[in-house]
Amino acid sequence: MDIVFIFEWLDASWLAELSKSSAGVFAMVQTVHIASMVMLGGMVMLGDLRMMNVLLPNVPSATIINGTRKWIWLALLFIILSGLYEASAIAMKLAHNSFFFAKMAGLGMGMAFILTIRSAVYSRAPAVVEGEGVNNNIQLDEVVQPWVVKLVAVTSLLIWFSVASAGRWIGFS
Ligand code: HEM
Repeated sequence: MDIVFIFEWLDASWLAELSKSSAGVFAMVQTVHIASMVMLGGMVMLGDLRMMNVLLPNVPSATIINGTRKWIWLALLFIILSGLYEASAIAMKLAHNSFFFAKMAGLGMGMAFILTIRSAVYSRAPAVVEGEGVNNNIQLDEVVQPWVVKLVAVTSLLIWFSVASAGRWIGFS
């Protein structure tokens, strides 16, 4: 399916007019984009590295997963809004940029992963069940193996690392 018309529409929008008119504002929005990415990466890494028992092993994993959830979604909101602003300035370049499409696919995959596999597996992780408070009503036969938890953590890190790398690569291509 040819979706170039979406980029043409974005390129002709008032947002594009705005984003192309001020390099200073563009730089500030780009800073928001990167700062949001740092927050997203930090929050995701906190959870995933805790689940791998690398970071903060004395803090209950449910405390970390529940405490970071809101910040992950807030960071994603800011990253998407600032990303749209940036994209409007270079819409026609992005229309034919495979790294941009790779990044969008990774972003969709990352969000779906958080909503489904990551949260389902982490809420059934053995450490969570051992009296950490959040999911004490979970049935013991629902508990997942530690290697599955670690596999999910590594997959999560890989997905977001790929998204960030593809984002940086847009600039090189
Ligand atoms: C709807 C979502 C997003 C859109 C539309 C978007 C769009 C953009 C655009 C247009 C650029 C400028 C490319 C350039 O010319 O250098 C950019 C840069 C970048 N983005 Fe995104 N982005 C989105 C989400 C994300 C996410 C989720 C991440 C990371 C997890 C991310 C990481 C980056 C990075 C690392 C850069 C490079 C910044 C630089 O080199 O200064 N973006 N993005």
